[in-house]
Amino acid sequence: MRPILIAGNWKMHKTQAEARQFLREFAPALQASSVGATPQRQIILCVPFTDLAVVVEETRGSGIAVGAQNLHWEDQGAFTGEISGPMLTELGVRYVIVGHSERRQYFGETDETVNWRLAAAQRHKLTPILCVGESLQQREQGLTESWIVGQLDRALPGIDLQNLVIAYEPIWAIGTGKTCAAAEANRVIGLIRQHLGADHLPILYGGSVKASNIDELMAQPQIDGVLVGGASLDPQEFARIVNFQTLTPAAAAP
Ligand code: 13P
Repeated sequence: MRPILIAGNWKMHKTQAEARQFLREFAPALQASSVGATPQRQIILCVPFTDLAVVVEETRGSGIAVGAQNLHWEDQGAFTGEISGPMLTELGVRYVIVGHSERRQYFGETDETVNWRLAAAQRHKLTPILCVGESLQQREQGLTESWIVGQLDRALPGIDLQNLVIAYEPIWAIGTGKTCAAAEANRVIGLIRQHLGADHLPILYGGSVKASNIDELMAQPQIDGVLVGGASLDPQEFARIVNFQTLTPAAAAP
């Protein structure tokens, strides 16, 4: 049985004081039934580098795992502004997002450097969360499937599928309020799984996930969890996402 992963990506939000305040409100809002659910619901908070130490400290013993939002492929060196795998593991970080579309779009990251970053994460026993997804233009041109397969094929040479999470994040659904229809997200994630031939691999959906659509998304058989941006900044809303309700197949039908 694949685990369920509910990951928040705070992006460039929250000072340490704001992170502490979030945790004070978030922890009590988690329902015991969702924390102890089967399959296990793993909560992951992917926070800015400056918040990592505080969030690791404050969540110790809670079952909440902490993730970074990027890492460099070298362990050390003259790479001003970058952070390496050993720097993250020393803090108690367990996950790291790699290849988010904002890194690709605004910071020039390529499939080649994404591959190097994935390898570095695994070398240091971090679990990378690899993001893939198509633009609106690619979707409209019917290129969704070929683009995603290409991204995977370029990012994954030499990468161990046993210690990997994939997030399907259609770019047009990120921060726009336009969620991909649950059935369509399920279809694309099914294609990714089939392409990789890895039944055990957790694959998440990301893009305008909210308290109002989480139940329907999580009712899809291929969707193993979510990567949540904006809605993970609010402790009550993110707790509701973690506490998603399991819908019966009939209730989940559109
Ligand atoms: P939003 O949930 O704000 O659309 O962001 C999704 C995302 O990019 C998560 O990595």
